[in-house]
Amino acid sequence: MGQDGFRPEEIDTSRPHPARVYDYLLGGKDHYEVDRRAGDELVAVAPEARIGVRANRAFMQRAVRYVVGSGVRQILDIGTGLPTSPNVHEIAREVAPDVRVAYVDNDPIVNVHAGALLGDSGASSIVLADLRDPRAVVDHPDVRRVIDFGEPVALLLVAVLHFLTEAERPGRIVATLRDALPAGSFLVLSHATGDFADRTSAQAVYDKASATMNLRSRAEVERFFDGFELVEPGLAQVPFWRPDTPPPAGSGEIGFYGGVARKAG
Ligand SMILES: C[S@@+](CC[C@H](N)C(=O)[O-])C[C@H]1O[C@@H](n2cnc3c(N)ncnc32)[C@H](O)[C@@H]1O
Repeated sequence: MGQDGFRPEEIDTSRPHPARVYDYLLGGKDHYEVDRRAGDELVAVAPEARIGVRANRAFMQRAVRYVVGSGVRQILDIGTGLPTSPNVHEIAREVAPDVRVAYVDNDPIVNVHAGALLGDSGASSIVLADLRDPRAVVDHPDVRRVIDFGEPVALLLVAVLHFLTEAERPGRIVATLRDALPAGSFLVLSHATGDFADRTSAQAVYDKASATMNLRSRAEVERFFDGFELVEPGLAQVPFWRPDTPPPAGSGEIGFYGGVARKAG
């Protein structure tokens, strides 16, 4: 039995799931035949997808170091994905050992694997909840056990918002989360885009997945930062956000925007 009463055998292997496709592209081992097929289809139509997911993951790592280096000691990571070392808490605690992390994902397989990895630590929690119900995330007892909303929080929405359709009103969802955060909190966000290459075929690979892919333009992604102030260099393709090594060849094609922003007081 996994946490929150989910059983591993309830995991849906009939269609691709974003967490498992992503894990496959990253070279992980927690995926099924449907996920590998979707990942291969994706790479066939968008060859930069493999370096794109790695660049997204590297962006997340740099952004976590940045926010913890800025003094934040609590992280709410929604759409956390399958554990991939180094995970958010490992990166954060290299900078400051007392960082607390609440991981949230709506995929039971993530809950099972991350729960097994994290164990029952007072400094972290893994919660099965859905970003589309942001109040339920913020009010979840296992989020509240780790996160004190009276102190600055780094909210991570890394490669997750593109799984929400416009009808699900992602802007309203981000605003609800923003309003729960005190001044001095940070938003770390990355998002898939078709701004650098036609990605209609890549998007179509997700039509039969458990969540659709909704590419957004620069202006649409920037709107998610309403109420926050973007730190330098603003919204950028992920390999170009404060790189600490030269961006890999082909980075100009990578269809992920990333940015970090601070909620002003
Ligand atoms: C592409 S992975 C990103 C993982 C990690 N944030 C990273 O960037 O390395 C997207 C994750 O978001 C999760 N997800 C998708 N829709 C979600 C939703 N509505 N609520 C919570 N999690 C969601 C998926 O299950 C998956 O684990």
